[in-house]
Amino acid sequence: MIAGVRRVLLVGFMGSGKSTVGRRVAEELGWRFLDFDDQVVARTGRSIAEIFAEDGEAAFRALEAEEARAALILDGVVLGSGGGWAAVEGRLEDLPEGTLSVWLKVTAEEAVRRTSSHSVGRPLLAGSDPLGVARGLLLQREPRYARADHEVDTTGHSQEDVVRRVTQLVRTESRT
Ligand code: S3P
Repeated sequence: MIAGVRRVLLVGFMGSGKSTVGRRVAEELGWRFLDFDDQVVARTGRSIAEIFAEDGEAAFRALEAEEARAALILDGVVLGSGGGWAAVEGRLEDLPEGTLSVWLKVTAEEAVRRTSSHSVGRPLLAGSDPLGVARGLLLQREPRYARADHEVDTTGHSQEDVVRRVTQLVRTESRT
């Protein structure tokens, strides 16, 4: 276990790479990767799209918050939050000790490009104007994401590069 940092929390918009980067950072550190969305799906046995369609977004948010609370007390984990989780006021200001939060930044255009082939788990971008929706959501959410301890830009950077930079941040923070 790296002293000081006990868990890494990746936040950012849909398509910012929280899951793909998170998995690889976890491998680098020899830690476990957990994704809030996957936890909700495993717990309920239903897809994100089904939960949104049948019970509404608020029901999904409650499940997501519950999974986040359970994950944020684990040690030796990299956590991939859903894009909406950190958009709630106070979330990043009130993290358990030992949590290093990193905002993976992405533009609306890049987010839509990256998610267009798998909008299934992303009902918010499944309508006729995903770019308009992404721009609007990013405007609201970026001030919240910016409360993370660090930010790493992903647009125009290779996945390897982003993984390297996040891993480096964890190692540097663990020494301070
Ligand atoms: C959402 C992001 C999704 C998922 C749900 C809502 C959001 O997760 O939780 O569709 O509000 O931004 P990813 O960020 O992992 O795509």
